[in-house]
Amino acid sequence: MKGQRRPDAQVEFDRYRHIDFLRVTEEAALAASKWVGKGKRDEADDAACSAMRSCLNQMEVKARIVIGEGERDEAPMLYIGEELGSGDGPEVQIAVDPLEGTNLCANGTPNAISVLAAAVVGEGFLMHAPDCYMDKLVVGSECKGVVDITLPPRVNVRLMAKALGKDIDEMIIGILDRPRHEKLINELRETGCRVHLVPDGDLSVAIAALDPDAGIDGLMGVGGAPEGVLTAAAVLCTGGDMQAKLVFTKDEQRERAEKMMDGAIDRVLKTQDLARGSVTFCATGITPGDLLRGVRFRRGFALTESIIMRSATRQIRRIETIHQDHNND
Ligand code: FBP
Repeated sequence: MKGQRRPDAQVEFDRYRHIDFLRVTEEAALAASKWVGKGKRDEADDAACSAMRSCLNQMEVKARIVIGEGERDEAPMLYIGEELGSGDGPEVQIAVDPLEGTNLCANGTPNAISVLAAAVVGEGFLMHAPDCYMDKLVVGSECKGVVDITLPPRVNVRLMAKALGKDIDEMIIGILDRPRHEKLINELRETGCRVHLVPDGDLSVAIAALDPDAGIDGLMGVGGAPEGVLTAAAVLCTGGDMQAKLVFTKDEQRERAEKMMDGAIDRVLKTQDLARGSVTFCATGITPGDLLRGVRFRRGFALTESIIMRSATRQIRRIETIHQDHNND
């Protein structure tokens, strides 16, 4: 692109119309919020997916899902490869998690969010990650270049503490509360650092780790690979750092990943491998959370809180929207 003028439509899309993606996560959050606390995971997920899909279809884009609800044969909508949008306008890669924290939404517990990342083809890139697990290390910009996922966690936390100018017992590391993390949790606690355990939603924890005011210094541990690509988009927009390794629990996953990634599936993936160039990231709260307030209903209208970020400018906007004619019927 250097030395070449970008087409006006492209500039306009990047600067102004990327905000349209916010409507997509807002609509998905509003739809899912009607199922908060009702114990119905699938209904909540379906509501978020169909709202997201119909909203994306109203946009003037040629959108293709790279991270979605699964492969075509296992997901009725927002499946990987699905094409959405009016068919006019720029070609856009889309990564979605219409309802991140399905259990959190069904149980009415904190931190369920709706998330989307987008990259205009030729300007940005989002990896089509296999549907497996991913070991993740996410830190904010002050720790960029300091950590190394191949080192023991106790070493990384000490390196982070030094970079942040904190004592080790002031460090807080977010981890999914899973039996597979017992060793990691013990190792970190032995250093004197604190562990913030969450029942679900490592994407929310990662975003918190990127915000110096959120009270989380880093995310460690194994979660979903699709969530990892969405996390990388947020990392790129904030100037943080991410390193990851794919984790396979079945041979088929390994074989599939090899085909998708032309081998080299055991290497360390950096932020730029997962997301690069110009990307937009947005998320809207569904249940009240550390990062975003959940959907709130008032007489005849609803309120949402969202975050939207662009890697090109590193602008981060927090947006509260009043949605008229929305209630919890
Ligand atoms: P869902 O909303 O798709 O259920 O994902 C929730 C989540 O906690 C993610 O945040 C995380 O990456 C993944 O599940 C971890 O998977 P598992 O529950 O199998 O440990």
